[in-house]
Amino acid sequence: MTSREFHPGKPWLDTDGRLIEAHGGGILYHEGIYYWYGENKDAENSEAHKQSGIDRVDVIGVSCYSSKDLYHWNNEGTVLHANEEPGHDLHPSHVLERPKVLYNAWTKQFVMWMHVDHGDYQFARVGLAVSERPTGPFRYVRSFRPGGYDSRDMTVYQDDDGTAYLICSTNMNSKVVTFPLTGDYLDVQNASAEHFVMPNEHMSRESPAVFKYHQTYYMVTSGCTGWDANPAEYAVAPSVMGPWTVVGNPCIGEHADRTYYSQSTFVIPVAGKEHAFIFMADRWNRYHLRESAYVWLPVEFSQNGAITIQWRDVWDLSIFE
Ligand code: DGJ
Repeated sequence: MTSREFHPGKPWLDTDGRLIEAHGGGILYHEGIYYWYGENKDAENSEAHKQSGIDRVDVIGVSCYSSKDLYHWNNEGTVLHANEEPGHDLHPSHVLERPKVLYNAWTKQFVMWMHVDHGDYQFARVGLAVSERPTGPFRYVRSFRPGGYDSRDMTVYQDDDGTAYLICSTNMNSKVVTFPLTGDYLDVQNASAEHFVMPNEHMSRESPAVFKYHQTYYMVTSGCTGWDANPAEYAVAPSVMGPWTVVGNPCIGEHADRTYYSQSTFVIPVAGKEHAFIFMADRWNRYHLRESAYVWLPVEFSQNGAITIQWRDVWDLSIFE
């Protein structure tokens, strides 16, 4: 895409004219530049896993793209690579999903959090990697189960005061828990309470995306249906640590019940615009995961703070003016 417009769901090319490979991604804004980190799935789906019924691409690593305007993205390469060492967390036969990067102003390190798993999704851990530069290379540190909990889809959120949080699906995705991170962002502080329990215990939640507007924290999640789209839901809270109150589906209109055939991954605060947020989602192509597209849509606020996300074939940042 070379124009200054967003075309949700359409193939999105980087500045070299190649499809952007940054799935399950997140954005870091640092010193005037946006960095988009995501799963590099630039390979055919794995044959072995077609047979087991779990569609996946072997782990390649985490891609990074940079942009000054959110429309044009420059490929900074694979900044964290798979590791061929047998049994390594990032072995190609494993799973590396939903990487998110924070900048720690005290340690001056870029800290990447991600979901690491085995092909059967039973390892269920968070992984950590660090770098001195936003464009890597990132060094893999370790994986663990935060507070002893199984952890699958996850995100991190950095508050204005520098406190950061891990937010992850746990208890076989039936709950979302939030943990404050330690000051260096390399661990969670011990938190034992389950901070976000869905009202219906049979409902599962995945793909959390957190942002703050007017002192209220918002969390958008999806249901749990593999690579297939389902209705989104959002909750609000006075603090990342809760209590979270479920409000409902922010999507409206046709295909709202399938999140416009996409799944949340992040909400981008547009720099310098207090009320401008972009809902960032993946339109998974289960049989050709590398071709999964991106759905970016503006988040709209009503006076009582409720949010809506509506489909637009094309839009641009002037919508926020
Ligand atoms: C849904 C999750 O949100 C994705 O990140 C991925 O783990 C798929 N499930 C795998 O089926």
